[in-house]
Amino acid sequence: PVIPVLVVDSVDVAVPLAEALCRGGLTVLEITLRSSAALAVIEKINEHVPAAIVGAGSVNTTSQMKSVKQAGARFVVSPGFTPFLAESADKYQLPWLPGVCTPGEILSAMQHGFHELKFFPAELVGGVAFLKALSGPFQNIVFCPTGGVSAATAKDYLNLDNVLCVGGSWVAPPDTVRAGRWEEIETLARQASVLGIT
Ligand code: 3PG
Repeated sequence: PVIPVLVVDSVDVAVPLAEALCRGGLTVLEITLRSSAALAVIEKINEHVPAAIVGAGSVNTTSQMKSVKQAGARFVVSPGFTPFLAESADKYQLPWLPGVCTPGEILSAMQHGFHELKFFPAELVGGVAFLKALSGPFQNIVFCPTGGVSAATAKDYLNLDNVLCVGGSWVAPPDTVRAGRWEEIETLARQASVLGIT
């Protein structure tokens, strides 16, 4: 139910971080291209943490699409939708989760065959109430809200029929990662991993 959205500054923490999240039950991990280490982190997790399904996030250009494919990303997340990125994801055979936050953007994504969309930045553009409003005209679209989702609000999103999962950085706070407090991260992951079933 929860995709950790991760900014990993150092390749040295890649394996213990991914292992802690997987032990806690979160195995689908989004490594954002917001650090220079990101591609190496994707490679390292792929090589050493077989339980993890590692993807790339904040993929904004077609050249980044190519780089993350080469690094072994199993899926790609972008903050928005463009036809160029859609073609590029297709070219590199990468499952792609494009972002939207308006009805017009949803229509563009639908025209290109996408029905599972990231809703970003979720809290700022209207959160749960906005998603409820979208469920009327867009009955066959499901969303992964991210951006400002927290341990406190994730459940409210997951209770919506048009929400498949949520994404967020709260399960791996940067200070906790830097300090190597892996048990804390495992606990946060475990709490998040049961949100969809309780
Ligand atoms: C994203 O890229 O999905 C968001 O930046 C994650 O947002 P958060 O840090 O507020 O969870």
